[in-house]
Amino acid sequence: MLHKKIVELLNIQINREFYSSYLYLDTSNYFYDNSLNGYGNWFDIQTQEENAHAILFVKYMQNNGERAVLEAIAKPDIAYKSFKHAIDEAYKHELFISKSINNIYWVAYELRDFKTMQFLDWFVKEQGEEEKNVDELCKRFELFGNDPRGLYMLDSEMAARTFTPPSLVL
Ligand code: FEO
Repeated sequence: MLHKKIVELLNIQINREFYSSYLYLDTSNYFYDNSLNGYGNWFDIQTQEENAHAILFVKYMQNNGERAVLEAIAKPDIAYKSFKHAIDEAYKHELFISKSINNIYWVAYELRDFKTMQFLDWFVKEQGEEEKNVDELCKRFELFGNDPRGLYMLDSEMAARTFTPPSLVL
């Protein structure tokens, strides 16, 4: 059995992961709409990753006798002013998600809920990787993205990203 507070936070996290998926679908849409299909693909893959994260949280709750509460997912309503703005927003969002996961970890620690802490270990590491990936996206865009040939090369690179389902075993 999970503590009430943990269940509450996990439910919020499920919604945040689904929102992340929805947000990146919107970002992907934005790039496809601007003919940057490589970036469109990169964010498409991110959408799938976030969806997989949400499902992992749902499964963890199921495995612990809890039924996740699926709330409405908010509309992604960022009006992107530039390609760089879209990427920067993704970075900001990942920092927010890391904070959110760290908070659940902190509450689990206070409650001595070692099982949840162990489950969250994978997410803490994953967030580190996600922050690094998007930070790299921002930096590479700053370096090469303002030149049409550079942007073309970057976009071609982004097209190569593929989806690998999370390796976490529950
Ligand atoms: Fe599932 Fe990018 O956080």
